[in-house]
Amino acid sequence: MLELVNLTKRYGDVVAVDRVSLKVEQGEFFCLLGSSGCGKTTVLRLIAGFEKRTDGRILLDGRDLADDPPHRRDVNTVFQSYALFPHLTVYENIAYGLRVRKTARNEIEGRVGDALALVGMTGLERRFPDQLSGGQQQRVALARALVNRPRILLLDEPLSALDMKIAEQTRLELAALQRQVGITFIYVTHNQTEALALADRIAVMHNGVIEQCGTPGEIYDHPKTRFVADFIGSMNFFDGCVASVSDRDCQLRLWDRWDVVVDKPVALAAGNPVLFCLRPEQLKLSLLPPRDFENGIPGTLRRTVYQGDATLYLLELRNGRIVTVSQNNYLARLSRDFFDLGDEYQIIWSRSSGETIRV
Ligand SMILES: Nc1ncnc2c1ncn2[C@@H]1O[C@H](COP(=O)(O)OP(=O)(O)OP(=O)(O)O)[C@@H](O)[C@H]1O
Ligand SMILES: [Mg+2]
Repeated sequence: MLELVNLTKRYGDVVAVDRVSLKVEQGEFFCLLGSSGCGKTTVLRLIAGFEKRTDGRILLDGRDLADDPPHRRDVNTVFQSYALFPHLTVYENIAYGLRVRKTARNEIEGRVGDALALVGMTGLERRFPDQLSGGQQQRVALARALVNRPRILLLDEPLSALDMKIAEQTRLELAALQRQVGITFIYVTHNQTEALALADRIAVMHNGVIEQCGTPGEIYDHPKTRFVADFIGSMNFFDGCVASVSDRDCQLRLWDRWDVVVDKPVALAAGNPVLFCLRPEQLKLSLLPPRDFENGIPGTLRRTVYQGDATLYLLELRNGRIVTVSQNNYLARLSRDFFDLGDEYQIIWSRSSGETIRV
């Protein structure tokens, strides 16, 4: 439905958006995820028409939006700061866009009522923005955009001003609301938890470029670049190379000394340098060499970090590298797993775990 083709935006020497190409489907919840300054807001502003592109195309249903002014695009934006009119009531804030477009009065009443109900704010229409909490203001901002029934809703970090608990709750409501109205959402955030929880698909941006685009599961389980692997969740990295490849599996040599086996990754040949990635939760600590798991390397326990539900164990390999292992505290208590600082353990994992990135 929406397609960006080599979309580029330069400010003088700064390339804020660098040949971004992606397709967003009708009704999809699409997240643009990346750290500060990577170009997320600029992509939204280009789609909304607040910014002129340097190069590339923006197609809605196959038609280029190049010359359409913002109000002619079937797109609405919800900003990080709610940007409500302080001197207008909740009702008038939401009705504003309809009035500008000279919508009939009784239709305005019906649509504002529906929008208020959608965001759970019925009954508060006479309040002014400064009589609302941050979460409520953000709902009004959302209702104000939804009332126009745009094809696409652009949301720029809409929950970042809310405290964590409220943001989590609003996040769930937002996901439900999106499914209910069926409007395509393009949602910008630097918060990976938020993106994983909300999105049908995520595009991870870095320095104006899309590093990887896929479902939350694809991005988390199969990162294609070091940046994506590092940015989403936590990750242990091992430099290595392919020792041998067979039909069934692939042997890697990590840090020039430890041989491990992984289910055969695609398109690798003996001698290829690789970056091997293992998530802390894919690893287990054991006193003995692996039995149920194919792989194990020794490490000395240097530090533990209690996290409530889990404990992080930081182990030092014999080459001085640190590996982080995460273990569920409840399961560890059941199986009476206790580990002492300064002792050496086996860090073990299954051949089906980990991601091999070719470098
Ligand atoms: N009007 C402008 N003039 C010059 N440079 C700009 C302008 N707007 C943005 N930039 C630059 O373009 C890059 C991308 O900015 P953008 O606002 O899109 O980032 P972002 O990913 O939204 O970051 P954040 O998470 O901090 O909001 C940054 O390096 C920024 O400094
Ligand atoms: Mg931004």
